[in-house]
Amino acid sequence: MAQLNVNIDHVATIRQARKADEPDPVWAAAECELGGASGITMHLREDCRHIQPRDVELVRQVAKVKLNLEMAMTEAMVRFALKVKPDQVTLVPEKRQELTTEGGLDCRKLQKHLAAVVRRLNRADIEVSAFITPDEDQVKASAQAGCQAVELHTGSYANAPSQAQLTRRLGELEKARDIGWACGLIIHAGHGLTYRNIGPVAALEGLEDFNIGHSIIVRSVFVGIRQATREMIELIDKYSSYCQQ
Ligand code: PXP
Repeated sequence: MAQLNVNIDHVATIRQARKADEPDPVWAAAECELGGASGITMHLREDCRHIQPRDVELVRQVAKVKLNLEMAMTEAMVRFALKVKPDQVTLVPEKRQELTTEGGLDCRKLQKHLAAVVRRLNRADIEVSAFITPDEDQVKASAQAGCQAVELHTGSYANAPSQAQLTRRLGELEKARDIGWACGLIIHAGHGLTYRNIGPVAALEGLEDFNIGHSIIVRSVFVGIRQATREMIELIDKYSSYCQQ
């Protein structure tokens, strides 16, 4: 059954809107855990515009579930990860002006650098996942660089303007998953997933983790984080059980 990691960045976004000390993402992490999340995802951006280093350090100390740290492949971030030791690092490209991570990491172009970063993180027992577009070359390049996992970018699926496009995007995810499996990779997925569009992706066999943020935090405003987490897990479980029949 696929697992849910809740991305709590937007709790920090609200806090940073006032540069205040609340809401605290550490509380949010505890609420996600109480709601049944298997993991917490946090993106420490280079400009620290939402999550702060202190947030990651404290969640590392208090969370009993998997900590997945999203970060760019910079020296400062690698050093931070080696200090904090999350269970998993997801390597993402990062542009300062973007509202959210826009594209996947170009693992083919950056393969040498990626391989060196993976080696350093693996030596500290940190698993590495690369956030990539569901594309054959990118999947293979991630495996060749030594990544344990890839997170398939579901943004194009989430934004598909028609049913035909959506079916095509699902097919791309499925194909990328198969190539990843053939390369020995663990397959995660995320970006743009919501309560309304999770079904068909959750029904794809064998996806390990979903990293979902915006939609869950939005629902939390009305029902609370614990309940919002629970509701997403119920949907993932319901649809993943289809592929097991
Ligand atoms: N996965 C990655 C690599 C991301 O960068 C993000 C956004 O921070 C997510 C998943 C979560 O995306 P969303 O907030 O759209 O659920």
